[in-house]
Amino acid sequence: MSSIRQKLAIILSIGFLSTVNVQAHYGWLDYISDNWEIAKGMVRNPTEVAAFTASSPRLVSHITNLVYSHMANTLYDPQAKGVNFNILEAGSASGSMTRGLTDLGDEIKKEGNLAGIRLDSVEYLKLLYEKLKKNVQENNDPAKGMVVKLHCADISTWQRPTDKDGKPIQYDVIVSTIPMTRLPKPMITKILDNYLKWLKPGGKVIYISLLGAETLGKFVKSCQRCFDGGRAITTYDGKMTLINEWKHKNFSEKTSIVWLNLTPMLVYEITKIDKKKQD
Ligand SMILES: C[S@@+](CC[C@H](N)C(=O)[O-])C[C@H]1O[C@@H](n2cnc3c(N)ncnc32)[C@H](O)[C@@H]1O
Repeated sequence: MSSIRQKLAIILSIGFLSTVNVQAHYGWLDYISDNWEIAKGMVRNPTEVAAFTASSPRLVSHITNLVYSHMANTLYDPQAKGVNFNILEAGSASGSMTRGLTDLGDEIKKEGNLAGIRLDSVEYLKLLYEKLKKNVQENNDPAKGMVVKLHCADISTWQRPTDKDGKPIQYDVIVSTIPMTRLPKPMITKILDNYLKWLKPGGKVIYISLLGAETLGKFVKSCQRCFDGGRAITTYDGKMTLINEWKHKNFSEKTSIVWLNLTPMLVYEITKIDKKKQD
């Protein structure tokens, strides 16, 4: 019981601290409610959820700032004239990050060269999707600001929506918080192929990983070696190699750290190499 109280106290403190200096509609009360939903999801579907806590307001603010600065760069790019800025969120859970991303609609409406902003949020688990629908308002009308669509689907088999010309939407940014290394390898391959195909040249994937995961991984590996003769290590290493090869072949990379999150997170911002500009 005391460990539950301790956990609650830690969540409350991090939630409170992480809202300091954060200007977002996502406050610490939302954070507590999202933690409750994620914990329920985790108990029922540990492989897919793979987290006991939701993104803290500070992590949400950090990631939305990264999206915002890419959007601001695109805004006055003459080549972007008349096009939409499209954001895809994979693994929305009950909507901690989604709420932050919808705030961007207020920041930049139809200004500069952009025709509009669109957000597609995809969540696999029905339980969390139902909560997401309560927390985030869908909007189909571009005249009312950001177009927001929520989807209950598996991102590896999801069919992208089409634009007004009937072409599948291409994304400027993909914010991915699905626990990639927990998924089966064929599914990871499918998701990585999708991300690459769905991004515009110069587009970004933003994803997170536990700070210190590598060190922790090495420790877990040495423990597992005693139990299963190294099978789990080979599987994990195989997945990491797949992800790293995909990343290094197609993207340039920047990382940053968010300390005020349970647990602290390493944020990867990887940019799809624009082969035409490179030649
Ligand atoms: C760590 S949680 C996401 C946390 C949330 N974005 C936040 O900011 O608090 C991972 C989420 O990814 C979802 N997920 C896992 N596999 C998925 C898949 N193949 N397609 C879509 N969502 C998936 C899980 O159901 C879970 O809600």
